[in-house]
Amino acid sequence: MEDIELLNDTFNLYMQKGKEAKEKGNFALAKRNFMLAGETMMKMAKASKGALREARLTRARRIVELSSDLKEKKKEENADDDVKKWQSAEVPNIGFKDVAGLDDVKKAIKIRMINPYLHPDKYKLYNKKTGGGVLLYGPPGTGKTMIAKAIANEVGAKFYAVKGSDIVSKWVGESEKNINSLFEEANKQQRAIIFIDEMDSLLGKRGVDTHNDKRVNEFLQQMDGFSGKNPNLLLLGATNRPWDIDSAVLRSGRFSQKIYIPLPDADARRFMIEKSMKNVPTSKDFSVDKIVQKTELFSGADIDELCDRAKDEPLLKAIATNSVVEVTNKDFDEVLKVFPPSVTEGDLKMFDKFNEDINSLISKKKK
Ligand SMILES: Nc1ncnc2c1ncn2[C@@H]1O[C@H](COP(=O)(O)OP(=O)(O)OP(=O)(O)O)[C@@H](O)[C@H]1O
Ligand SMILES: [Mg+2]
Repeated sequence: MEDIELLNDTFNLYMQKGKEAKEKGNFALAKRNFMLAGETMMKMAKASKGALREARLTRARRIVELSSDLKEKKKEENADDDVKKWQSAEVPNIGFKDVAGLDDVKKAIKIRMINPYLHPDKYKLYNKKTGGGVLLYGPPGTGKTMIAKAIANEVGAKFYAVKGSDIVSKWVGESEKNINSLFEEANKQQRAIIFIDEMDSLLGKRGVDTHNDKRVNEFLQQMDGFSGKNPNLLLLGATNRPWDIDSAVLRSGRFSQKIYIPLPDADARRFMIEKSMKNVPTSKDFSVDKIVQKTELFSGADIDELCDRAKDEPLLKAIATNSVVEVTNKDFDEVLKVFPPSVTEGDLKMFDKFNEDINSLISKKKK
C-alpha cells in the first residue's frame, strides 16, 4: 500500500501547480497537473475504505471532470477545424441508380433537394420554395444513409455530414459552439447541405439529459435563424427512431418534410438480389423470385447479408475441390432457416403509429 501522507502531499502539489497554470492561461499544463492530481486522488481512494473511499472517489472524478473542461475550452478554439472535418472530403461514389426501389422517395427528393441546385432559374420562374429541412425516417437498413450519400453525389453542393452517435460523446459540453460553427460554415457556402445521420441520438426529446437539451435548444435557434433566409442551405436528417426526436425539431418550418423510407418491396428486393448475384455462378434452375417471396420483412441490409452468407458454402466447396460450385436456392434456404429479418412486425407498428400521428397533425393544420 502506498503511503497516504506522501500521496496527499503529491496531490496537493499537483493541484497547486494546476491552479497556477490555469490562472496564467496555460490550459495544457493545467490540464496535465489536474489529471495527475485526479490520478493521485484515485490511488488514495483505492487505499481507503468505506465513506472515505467514496468521498475520495467522488473528488477524483470531479477533478478529472474539471480538467476535461479545460480541454473543451482549448478545443473551442479549434472548432473551425472540426467543421472542416465534417465536410466530406470525397463525394461518395453512390448514385440514385444504386438505390433499389423507392421511386416516390427519389422523386420527392429530386424536387426538394436536387433540382433547386441544378435548375435554380426554373425554381425562380415558378416561385418554388427551396431550402429548409427534410427528414428521412424508417426501419434500420432501408437505405437512408445511402440516399443521403446519393444526394451528395448528385448535387454540386458542399455536404456536411454529422453522425449523432459519433459526436454526442465528442461534443459533451461544447455542442452549442460546434453546432453554431457548423451552421456558420455552411451558411457561407453558396450551396450547402447539412446531413445529420442518426438524428435521434443528437436531438432527443428534451427533459432527460441536460447536454441533449442544450444541443436541441441551440439547434432550434440556428434552424430558425437560417430558415427562409438562405434558400441554398438544406438540412437533411435521417433516423430509425423518429419518435425519440424532440418534437419541436420536427415542427413545420424546421424539418417540415418527412419522408418515410419503408422496407423494400418485392421489386426492390429482386433488384438487390440480382445485383448481388450478377455474374456469380448459379444453378440452372436458380430462381430469384423464390427468394423474393421468402424475404418479405427483410431490409436492404438484410438482403445484402443473406446473399453474402448464401455464397459461403458453395465458395468453401469450390476452394476445397478447386472447381466451380454453383449457388442454388437451397443455399439460400439454409441461411434463411437461421437468419430472421432484423425488423419485426412490432417495429413496423411503431412506424405505422408515427405515420398516423404526423398525418393527423398535418390534416388538423389544414382544417
Ligand atoms: N434501397 C436500397 N437499395 C440498395 N441497397 C440498399 C437499400 N437499402 C439498404 N441497402 C443496403 O443496405 C446497406 C445499409 O443501408 P443504409 O446504411 O443506407 O441503411 P439505413 O437506412 O441508413 O439504416 P440505419 O437506420 O440503421 O442507419 C446499404 O449499404 C446497402 O448495401
Ligand atoms: Mg443509416
